[in-house]
Amino acid sequence: MKALSLRMLVLRMLALAFILWLLSSSLSAAEPNLLGDGLSVTNPSMSNSAGSEAMAKWARSCALCHITGEANAPVLGDTEEWQQRLQKGEAALLNNVVNGINSMPPLGYCMSCEAADFRVMIDYMAGVK
Ligand code: HEC
Repeated sequence: MKALSLRMLVLRMLALAFILWLLSSSLSAAEPNLLGDGLSVTNPSMSNSAGSEAMAKWARSCALCHITGEANAPVLGDTEEWQQRLQKGEAALLNNVVNGINSMPPLGYCMSCEAADFRVMIDYMAGVK
């Protein structure tokens, strides 16, 4: 009798572990889709995958400061402010993003970003494309 209930307990724990495993694997598979869909709604022009990947990084790293204007960051869509900054030229802007400038942190906290990502992000914030 005792041995039987122990076996039941082990079986139940195995079943529970299996269910948890199923849940976690289906959740992690769904995550990138949720993020991708959410972003394509806010920014339908970025339909190509390179662009939407850059926009996912933007949402994770840059949005933090560039939506609210935290520490005087130029705000998303403030075309006048961005026009002034664009006048420095793309090379100077990219250089300031990579190395940081004043309260703008180096790489904007995006360690996986490349120059191509930054170009997409700058055009997006400046409302150029
Ligand atoms: C911690 C807040 C913060 C984060 C995160 C951040 N920025 Fe900034 N950013 C700033 C601030 C503040 C400035 C204004 C700096 C100045 O000109 O004094 C700025 C300025 C800029 C500029 C203009 C630079 C210039 O030379 O005029 C660009 C381009 C820029 N950010 C891009 C980005 C990108 C792309 C990301 C994400 C990868 C990012 N930022 C993340 C705060 C932030």
